[in-house]
Amino acid sequence: MKILAIETSCDETAAALVEDGAHILADIVASQVSIHSKYGGVVPELASRRHVEAILPVIEEALSKSGQTLYEVGAIAVTQGPGLIGSLLTGLAVAKSLAYVLNIPLVGVNHIYSHIEAIFLSPASPRDFPFIALVISGGHTVLFRVEDHTQMILLGRTRDDAAGEAFDKVAKFLGLGYPGGVIIDQLAKKGDPQAISFPRPFLENDSFDFSFSGLKTAVLQYVRHLKEGLTPALIGNIAASFQEAVVDTLLAKTMRAVKYHKLKQVVIVGGVACNSRLREKFKQAGQENEIAVFFPLPKLCTDNAAMVAAAGYHLLLKGQRANLGLNAYSRLAEAP
Ligand code: KG4
Ligand code: ZN
Repeated sequence: MKILAIETSCDETAAALVEDGAHILADIVASQVSIHSKYGGVVPELASRRHVEAILPVIEEALSKSGQTLYEVGAIAVTQGPGLIGSLLTGLAVAKSLAYVLNIPLVGVNHIYSHIEAIFLSPASPRDFPFIALVISGGHTVLFRVEDHTQMILLGRTRDDAAGEAFDKVAKFLGLGYPGGVIIDQLAKKGDPQAISFPRPFLENDSFDFSFSGLKTAVLQYVRHLKEGLTPALIGNIAASFQEAVVDTLLAKTMRAVKYHKLKQVVIVGGVACNSRLREKFKQAGQENEIAVFFPLPKLCTDNAAMVAAAGYHLLLKGQRANLGLNAYSRLAEAP
């Protein structure tokens, strides 16, 4: 079955055509970074307007790249939430219209769960279920025990900022640009991760929850109290030390969850899973603890519609169908 998927939860307008939930025929992402970068973050109203302009050309490009027409599409999958309501509604309106006109099944997909599906579109993926999944993106930091393609048990989540949000806010404060994760990743390569001792929040706690706002504030306070100005060398050290604190926290919690659940496989997904230091430290910890660590291809870590098609495929196999009343939700807790 060929599924056309649409993803508009945040600031990427994406469409993909995927066969049988596994073979990507086309995967198109139109980024809005140039629109939001001057504001240092996503401006919801601008994002919605851009989705309206971009969605049809992006779908047309996905169809033409795949060599398919709309009449070869067997079903439509669309991100339903969590995300920005105005952005989600654009994708939902187009998805519902196409499903209605073509008279084919429609399915609503949870954006966070779909990030996990990205691993099954990548060269290496877990052999079986269950496994632990860490979803780390600009909007979310969540640990799951994944029972199968459609069943996730929530183990812990951030109580304040998401990991990617912390990267973006620290980068904005240091005047480095947006989105901050990839910039800090690069600058940190020239810095010393041990130079500054930033806090590793929530590590003492038995819960699997995270908190990054205290770490973000610690970086801001450190910079505000500097006697000398920010030099490139100092920025490198701040970037490396901050990144190390984020990675250590994510790693410690995830490894604790893996051991607590006596599992041998862990999957790390979402935009922050592109981080080079994070990949290095997780792989090293995996080898030391005999745990298989899986990362999607970097382009499938950040928001895309191929992962939505994969997630939608498994929901359709289970018989799930949405009607034209399908509505958006903004937070994970509101998911149906
Ligand atoms: O998954 P994603 O594309 O969108 C959301 O669902 O939020 O993730 C975007 C986030 C941004 O916060 C960005 O700064 C972060 O992923 N990110 C990174 C890296 N590449 C992207 N964070 C750390 N290191 C990176 N290399
Ligand atoms: Zn995302």
